[in-house]
Amino acid sequence: MALQLGDIAPDFTQQSTAGEVHFHQAIEGKWAVLFSHPKDYTPVCTTELGEVARLKPEFDKRNVVVFGLSVDPLKDHEGWAADIKDTQGHALNFPLIADPDRTVAGLYGMIHPNANDTLTVRSVFIIDPNRKVRLTLTYPASTGRNFAEILRVIDSLQLTDSHKVATPVNWQDGDDVIIVPAIQDQGELQRLFPKGYTIVRPYLRTTPQPNR
Ligand code: BEZ
Repeated sequence: MALQLGDIAPDFTQQSTAGEVHFHQAIEGKWAVLFSHPKDYTPVCTTELGEVARLKPEFDKRNVVVFGLSVDPLKDHEGWAADIKDTQGHALNFPLIADPDRTVAGLYGMIHPNANDTLTVRSVFIIDPNRKVRLTLTYPASTGRNFAEILRVIDSLQLTDSHKVATPVNWQDGDDVIIVPAIQDQGELQRLFPKGYTIVRPYLRTTPQPNR
């Protein structure tokens, strides 16, 4: 069965451009993003990896470690890395995992045989410090992902893990948030949301972002 939200992210050991990755050890105490791409030396993947390298400081700020992956061998990853730097202006600064025996692709269900029976699709897994899968995304090979959206989800997950709120459509860090409907006690509402709140409907109450 495919990995589902709340499942423990499977452990693995595999080679990468930054040395051997022992996954559970590498993500200890951190959030993680594991994303697969279909193939080295391809145009969309080249742009994606350059963009993740550019955004690395944003992932660092959020205590997130990032791992790319494809089923191509390590020597291809190493050769392609020079192209990523030359064409995108950002050198690879995170591990790109080589999964030629498809160990990781199998554990994480990154190969969708009816789309392509040998290459990984564009999967994304966000994993929390308890090693639980908190988001899964699957994109087709022809569509590059929006990594600003991945950062936005991480912001939402980190905020909603520590406050009794949810984030509305198109929310960005700093915008108002939604108070979870389970909080009904007046005293608790005032204690948790001292900046006040707006009752749009009894089930839809907004408040300024509490950690700002
Ligand atoms: C690409 O990254 O450009 C790509 C990879 C596999 C299939 C189609 C496009």
